Amino acid sequence: MSALFTPFTLKDVTLRNRIAVPPMCQYSAVDGLANDWHLAHYTSLARGGAGLVIVEATAVSPEGRISPACLGLWNDEQAAELARIAAAIKAAGAVPGIQIAHAGRKANANKPWEGDDHIAQDDPRSWETLSPSAIAFGHHLDRVPRAMTHEDIAHVQADFAAAARRAKEAGFEWLELHFAHGYLAQSFFSVHANRREDEYGGDWRGRGRFLLETLDAVRTVWPARLPLTARFGVIEYDGRDEDTLQEAIALTKAMADKGLDMLNVSIGFSTPDAAIPWGPAFLAPVAGRVRQETGLPVAASWGIDNPHSADATVADGVLDLVMIGRVHLANPHWSYQAALSLGIDRPSWVLPAPYAHWLERYRPN
Ligand SMILES: Cc1cc2nc3c(=O)[nH]c(=O)nc-3n(C[C@H](O)[C@H](O)[C@H](O)COP(=O)(O)O)c2cc1C
Repeated sequence: MSALFTPFTLKDVTLRNRIAVPPMCQYSAVDGLANDWHLAHYTSLARGGAGLVIVEATAVSPEGRISPACLGLWNDEQAAELARIAAAIKAAGAVPGIQIAHAGRKANANKPWEGDDHIAQDDPRSWETLSPSAIAFGHHLDRVPRAMTHEDIAHVQADFAAAARRAKEAGFEWLELHFAHGYLAQSFFSVHANRREDEYGGDWRGRGRFLLETLDAVRTVWPARLPLTARFGVIEYDGRDEDTLQEAIALTKAMADKGLDMLNVSIGFSTPDAAIPWGPAFLAPVAGRVRQETGLPVAASWGIDNPHSADATVADGVLDLVMIGRVHLANPHWSYQAALSLGIDRPSWVLPAPYAHWLERYRPN
């Protein structure tokens, strides 16, 4: 048995293997509502054999959406549509997860294939963006956000808690807080975005306060028996990486003390001036260090698309879960293909019978 195909238990939830589909925005919703596109997309990913399927960044409020076409979880109608998706993922044998998010100063954007830039201020679809300080991300996202008041902060944290409660009621069993990728929570942590002089700025404890308080607010409504995780950018590739990493590890330990169960280790994306060393599995060693220094289980993605290296990251104790993103868009049955590559006897068990029966003895050329 390969390491990649061993089960993984966190709290009361057991994944059938170490393969996870990370959240991937579909930019296909209207008014934050999931529709048939999302249902088909997530069902096919779950049928493909992954242990965990995490539904894309789902906004906790209308202003928290990256684009007007992002999913939301700020009302019960949205929760009802997402409940169909959670049930479909579960029926296909995967654990249904969801990422809840606020996009901060990167909100109010056009879809990636329609410019990926901020929606013009005079466009009727446009809305005001929020961030710890009135500093624009820059580059294609040049709109200056409004610096959040204490009231704004409390409001967003209450929105996170309400979305978490709805996620639980919709049947999700794995919750990921989006604390990464230059969105609101990452902006609080980032020296590129946070120049506050109150208790939400300054040293890492101040810049980490928003994340810790948000985690606290969610912990009170999310069941203790279910995994509560976060995706967090622990490195920016901006020339001050060791400092950022040490601060991120300190904050991760503080989050673990408050009940965080796992970290999906990612990149900060808080500055357009980063020099990211794209390459196969380049983030895995960083995630391995976070795992070692915090004692928390970790997951990571970014260029892990080879079954053998995915298997090795688990076997070598670098990652607990391997997040396989874009490759799953190309091939929702990547898990089956990975089982074949790893020489697993009867890999067809990875798939449901209507596929497995025919593939039992068939090997693609
Ligand atoms: C279409 C698309 C949408 C994405 N949306 C999200 C998202 O909603 N939340 C998130 O944390 N990351 C998002 N990401 C990043 C992925 O989760 C993943 O980290 C990235 O694709 C790298 O993994 P890969 O090399 O296996 O594709 C997205 C990536 C893609 C390609």
